[in-house]
Order: sequence, then C-alpha cells, then structure tokens
Amino acid sequence: MKIIETSHIAKRYIMGTEIIDALKDVTISVSKGEYVAFMGPSGSGKSTLMNIIGCLDSPTSGKYILNSKDVSDMTENELAEVRNKEIGFVFQTFNLLPRMTSLENVALPLIYAGYTKAQRTERAMAALKSVGLEQRAGHRPNELSGGQRQRVAVARALVNDPSILLADEPTGNLDTRTSYEIMDLFDQLHSKGNTIVVVTHEDDIAKYAHRIIRLRDGLVETDVVNANPTKVKLTQLKAE
Ligand SMILES: Nc1ncnc2c1ncn2[C@@H]1O[C@H](COP(=O)(O)OP(=O)(O)OP(=O)(O)O)[C@@H](O)[C@H]1O
Ligand SMILES: [Mg+2]
Repeated sequence: MKIIETSHIAKRYIMGTEIIDALKDVTISVSKGEYVAFMGPSGSGKSTLMNIIGCLDSPTSGKYILNSKDVSDMTENELAEVRNKEIGFVFQTFNLLPRMTSLENVALPLIYAGYTKAQRTERAMAALKSVGLEQRAGHRPNELSGGQRQRVAVARALVNDPSILLADEPTGNLDTRTSYEIMDLFDQLHSKGNTIVVVTHEDDIAKYAHRIIRLRDGLVETDVVNANPTKVKLTQLKAE
C-alpha cells in the first residue's frame, strides 16, 4: 500500500523579483513500511519536499496523495488536522520545550486529540519506553544528553501513532556515537513496521535506509534500492 504519492510536484518561491524553483517536477511514491533517505546538495530541495510531504506546506502545482487522501489543495486547517493524525516529525534541533519534562513534551501532541490526562500520561510513558527512556520521564531537556533529547523527540513524534515518521537531519547536532544510537533506534522502529523518511547530508547515515533518493536542483536525480543497509548492533538502549 502506498503511503506517499507525489505526482509532478513543483514549489516556486517568489522573493521580490527573484523566482526560486525549489522543486521543479518531483514524482515519487513510498509504500507503507519503507525506510527512505533523501540526499542531495544544499539547496537541492530536500527540506522543501519534506515540508510538503509532512503537510507543513503545499506544492505550487502537482498532486500529493497521503495515505489515500488528496492533500494537494487542502486549506491550512485541513492540513493541520491531517498533519496531527498522520505525521510524526523529528528535527535537527530537537524542538523540545525547555520548561517541560520528557513526559510532558511527549504528551503534548495528545492534548489536541481529546484524551484524558491519565490516558495522555499512559501513552506518553509507553512512547518513552519504546525509545528506552522511561527512567528519564521527569527530566527536563537540559538535564538530558543530546542523544537522549533526540530520543524524547522521537517518542513525541510517535506518540500519536502516525503513518509516517519524518526526520530532517536528525543526527545533524549529534556526535558520531550518539548518531549511531539514533540510527539504531530508527532501525528498530522500521523493524516494527514504521514508515520512515530521513533527510541527511551524510552517506554513513543514509546507508541505514533501504532506499536512497537523491535530489539535485529540484529534481530527482537517482532513486535506488540499498540492498545492503547498515545494521547497528541492536544494543539494549539504556538511559545511562
Ligand atoms: N521559504 C522560502 N522562501 C524562499 N526561498 C526558499 C524558501 N525555502 C527554501 N527556499 C529556497 O529553495 C531552495 C531549496 O531549499 P531547501 O531548504 O529545500 O534545500 P535543502 O536541500 O533542504 O538544503 P540544505 O541541505 O541546505 O538544508 C533553496 O534555493 C532555498 O534558498
Ligand atoms: Mg534542508
């Protein structure tokens, strides 16, 4: 089953007199359970494409079907609703709220979904457990390591049980060892059936994915299966 289907997507930005065609003509499809990496030089359109796939932005032209819904022409409000239901985001800079604990950060997306406080706590705790951080539920972001912060962000992205996990440079602010820890986590999430799309500059990180799509100048340059994805040893994730 297809989760993502874009058809001749273009995105044009107009800045004063300058026209920037960030995406020119992008047609891709991603099936449920795939693990895909987007690569390409700076400015090639990776984040623009991720933002459209994540319903943060709409294409200027072309069609985008997300989980059988045509989202190409949705209003801001409709997009926001689809986004809450279908998409889990992980960003380079974690984007956690500094005054909130891990548990509160993870529970945040559930506030709009109509759960009781007890249900929110239970689900957020389960999500923290799935990233190996239940022992850090009461810590604030500045009381966590970089890798742990990113794991909290992953738990928050997963708490709504989204159709897709989207990660834009998720290891961009992490050292090598901690990056592997996050890739190990993604690997486990993929094994459990999650659909994952990762943007990365780094070959080492892209090689964990099972398919690599390279963009250049707003177009798909190559789209290849990675027959031999990197596996990290499945270490037991620990808070320590
Ligand atoms: N909101 C915007 N307004 C105007 N131009 C934009 C906007 N967002 C992106 N662009 C332009 O669109 C092009 C593609 O940008 P995008 O952020 O998608 O690149 P990228 O592949 O993610 O690059 P990087 O690897 O540096 O993150 C760039 O030329 C950029 O300057
Ligand atoms: Mg980018």
